[in-house]
Amino acid sequence: MATYSDLDGIAAAAAIDEARLWSHLVGFGEIGGIGGGGVCRLALGEEELAARRHIASWAQSRGYRVFVDPVANLFVRREGTDPGAAPVITGSHIDTQPQGGRFDGAYGVIAALEALAALDGASVKTRRPIEVVAWTNEEGVRFTPGAMGSMVFSGALALSDIAGRRGSDGVTLSAALASALAATPQATFRPTVPPIAAYVEAHIEQGPELEARGIPIGIVEGIQGVRWFDIEVSGSGAHAGTTPLSRRRDAFQDALRIVSALNDWTSDRGDVLRFTVGRFDLTPNSRNTVPARASLGIDLRHPDANVLREKGDRIAAIAAAAARYCAVSVREVFTKAPASFDAAVIGTIEAATRLLRIPALRMSSGAFHDALFLNDVCPAGMIFIPCEAGISHDPAESITSVQAAAGARVLAATLVALAGADGDVR
Ligand code: GLV
Ligand code: MN
Ligand code: MN
Repeated sequence: MATYSDLDGIAAAAAIDEARLWSHLVGFGEIGGIGGGGVCRLALGEEELAARRHIASWAQSRGYRVFVDPVANLFVRREGTDPGAAPVITGSHIDTQPQGGRFDGAYGVIAALEALAALDGASVKTRRPIEVVAWTNEEGVRFTPGAMGSMVFSGALALSDIAGRRGSDGVTLSAALASALAATPQATFRPTVPPIAAYVEAHIEQGPELEARGIPIGIVEGIQGVRWFDIEVSGSGAHAGTTPLSRRRDAFQDALRIVSALNDWTSDRGDVLRFTVGRFDLTPNSRNTVPARASLGIDLRHPDANVLREKGDRIAAIAAAAARYCAVSVREVFTKAPASFDAAVIGTIEAATRLLRIPALRMSSGAFHDALFLNDVCPAGMIFIPCEAGISHDPAESITSVQAAAGARVLAATLVALAGADGDVR
């Protein structure tokens, strides 16, 4: 027998407006647009603050209250009929990679706002409040670590320990957070974390599986673990024309040896392990000067906690042994073990796809997401939609309006189920 939640879930999903959602996504992608479909909205930077202003004024114009917390996570709240009930939270992030796409993160936030509008349009009342969140600094580009907003929110990281850190542009995190708090004066400051009933995040898959199989929805069962390392190689600067090779301490050449040794250490026949040198800086980076320093940003991932531990724990020793002339220092700057999402939330998402007769696939996530940290403090889960050729973290990132709407429909029905239709027996 259909419950009130089922009926209201169907009504809310039907009220998702594909054209409205698409124009919102496209318009939002123009904030920090860099041409060619790309976006550069670094965490807490000018463009990202403009995106915050957009969300806050969207919310205000529709009568939703807006909240902000000490790490500048931004919340839009749709009240429930039980004022004291813990909220269901949904959302994602609005910061991007330096040459990112329009949908990584933004999709989860804008689809969640569309879900609120659909609930209103269908006059659906939920017992619990529903809050849409834009987490601060998921990408970890300007400030380290990534997923900073959700880490602080969930207690995995103390803001006081990182407030003095400088971003890649030299600005301190505390100054950048102050600008973000000032950008949305209509938001009420909420210093403490309320208890949360559940968290669900919609996101593009960022991989090729859903598209390849022609399946519109991924139900995410878990996320692989990740470790980030900064490696500094310190040699000596010298004249490129006059200094014999035998007298050099060339940081670039030692960095090459280190990368080569780490490639060997992390090579995986099964092609499951992910090892990336995603950042490489030379100092002074001048053609006719022997590099004095090389700085490498390493990203290591694996779904098995034991492999991730074993491979990551040896990185410092392998790097030190591989360098021939330079001093090497290795610092681990971000770690998160693999995680499985809550069975009940996974089941609720799956039930929503059945209710709406939308084909879905259970899968795991290679990318990390804020949901990984929310999973530590409340039942959590994720909904994926396909993206073209699996491309993400690139201006070529692309989805269709049909795909966007399908994900928003599943999200809306899931939110109704998690928040409880007002008529349901409690
Ligand atoms: C998130 O952006 C990730 O790097 O997985
Ligand atoms: Mn993302
Ligand atoms: Mn990303």
